[in-house]
Amino acid sequence: MSECQQKEIHQLQDEITALKKRLDQSQRMTALGELVSTTTHEFNNVLMTIINYAKMGMRHEDKETRDKAFAKINKAGMRASKITNAVLGMARNRSEHFELTDVAKLIDESMVLLEREMQKYRISVDMQIDDVPEISAIGNQIQQVLMNLLINARQAMSEGGQLVIKLQQNTANHTVDLSIRDYGPGIPQDKLRRIFDPYYTTKSGPDETGKGGTGVGLATCKNIIEAHGGKIRVESSVGKGTNFTLMFPMEVQKSPVPMARGIAGAVSQINAATQATGNVTH
Ligand SMILES: Nc1ncnc2c1ncn2[C@@H]1O[C@H](COP(=O)(O)OP(=O)(O)OP(=O)(O)O)[C@@H](O)[C@H]1O
Ligand SMILES: [Mg+2]
Repeated sequence: MSECQQKEIHQLQDEITALKKRLDQSQRMTALGELVSTTTHEFNNVLMTIINYAKMGMRHEDKETRDKAFAKINKAGMRASKITNAVLGMARNRSEHFELTDVAKLIDESMVLLEREMQKYRISVDMQIDDVPEISAIGNQIQQVLMNLLINARQAMSEGGQLVIKLQQNTANHTVDLSIRDYGPGIPQDKLRRIFDPYYTTKSGPDETGKGGTGVGLATCKNIIEAHGGKIRVESSVGKGTNFTLMFPMEVQKSPVPMARGIAGAVSQINAATQATGNVTH
């Protein structure tokens, strides 16, 4: 190998290291930013409800109106507590180790954070949750994957629509399968093979809820799922919608895979070719 070639290889290695760092930072910032933005929006909604019903109760002295106001305030307070619990759950669940994880619980906690947002964008959520075995997983990471898929689906249905979340056991494959289907515009075939590329986005920037547009969401999802020994599959048809399926192995993971390997995986796939069909599995 010539000296010139060696120099070029060193330069490329440096570039890869810099890209890895950038991807890692973007992914962390996006996840944190989205969590802060979602929680703040949700909390603000709850506070508005509490303030408005408190005002109503103060204005009207009759028992019936006051009882109604108290009931609404109580309900809003319970919701606020559910939101903080979901966030605290994520904070407590910071373990970087695999542990037996209840996927249905992660879905519930994610939906608590996104419930109001789904209502606001007129998206009805159809939950088809089977009783499935716990999987070996890093809970926070799986929740991050879920949040990105749910937000992507919501953003795809700008005029409202239906979102189907299905959790089931696939006995033939020995996997626990989680699918998130939307009835948005779908993804054209030439774009489908690029959606897992880091920084690939068709969004012009964060929307009014502060989400989307970085293009690291699906790249991160893919890394996380792969680090869990699972697969992520997408099926999409233009005009009909998109379905993402996560397939987790049922057998217990033996060797924990740190996040860093996942990020390296994303960078290494920058040049990797994916198949150009109506569905892609990673
Ligand atoms: N459910 C979906 N329906 C239609 N297009 C989708 C869907 N999910 C992803 N995409 C396409 O894939 C692209 C990449 O998605 P990805 O989640 O990686 O990034 P993003 O949502 O644009 O930004 P962010 O990094 O903030 O999540 C999107 O910009 C969009 O074009
Ligand atoms: Mg996204």
